[in-house]
Amino acid sequence: FENVLSMEDLSAADVLEFIKEASQFKNGKEVTLTRPVYASNLFFENSTRTHTSFEMAERKLGMNVVNFDPSTSSLSKGESMADTVKTLQAIGVDLVAIRDRKNEYYKDLVEDPNVHLGIANGGDGSGQHPSQSLLDMMTIYEEFGHFEGLKVAIIGDLAHSRVARSNMEVLTKLGAKVYFGGPEKWFNEDFAEYGEWREIDELVPEMDVMMFLRVQHERLAADENGSFSDVKYHETYGLTQARERRMKDDAIIMHPAPVNRDVEIADELVECDRSRIFAQMSNGVFIRMAILASMLRYRGLIEE
Ligand code: CP
Repeated sequence: FENVLSMEDLSAADVLEFIKEASQFKNGKEVTLTRPVYASNLFFENSTRTHTSFEMAERKLGMNVVNFDPSTSSLSKGESMADTVKTLQAIGVDLVAIRDRKNEYYKDLVEDPNVHLGIANGGDGSGQHPSQSLLDMMTIYEEFGHFEGLKVAIIGDLAHSRVARSNMEVLTKLGAKVYFGGPEKWFNEDFAEYGEWREIDELVPEMDVMMFLRVQHERLAADENGSFSDVKYHETYGLTQARERRMKDDAIIMHPAPVNRDVEIADELVECDRSRIFAQMSNGVFIRMAILASMLRYRGLIEE
């Protein structure tokens, strides 16, 4: 791929291909680059997992990582994202991973005839998070070996979630059945197209995957934050220990993290046997290797 920006651009076959190559990387596959390749990670919005695992993936593929810190960059002098990206390109950067709070920030970049470097979207506002979605699909595939007919509930802060938008789209494409839960005010017609909303107590005994979303306090209105109660949210919408005991025997718990412990998921369940939360993070490195490898391959930078 020239760039990896949105799950909307990927077919079911593309997703399976990414999972296949990521699994090969997980099993030790190595690649040789045709020349020194340089990558940089531009995170204009905070991140732990996506930022560090893109960097780990770049290093494991043998790329050189050029450090970029927005807080000490010339963004503070008013330089735009486009000029920042073109500057990195001019100094020799081949690929960038970018996260920004603006939905579809990448459109201006890919439509700019002077931008040639590869862009991996590390998350755009409440739009898309393709590398998270692909690592989620890898984790589900590792567990069940298929997607067809699986019941997957996406529960929580749907309104602000790029993970929900990315995953409802791709899970449907792959043949899974999607359900939604959490505060009904965060469920709207965008989601209704992909699945129905249900109370968590109805979802718990039926789902193969219970995927929880973080309550994104930084994107809630001040009045919503003011009236928010962690305890009430957990009791009404969260995975309590009593609810976990009602899950199907082989059902798994997922969350893109960071987790608000005792809000979306009871503290004791974050690392329980059926939780795949840290496995998701590990898979994130290999999926990002597969994403970057596809962009390197597009540019003839991998020896085949
Ligand atoms: N899941 C995820 O995107 O985490 P970070 O915000 O830490 O990158």
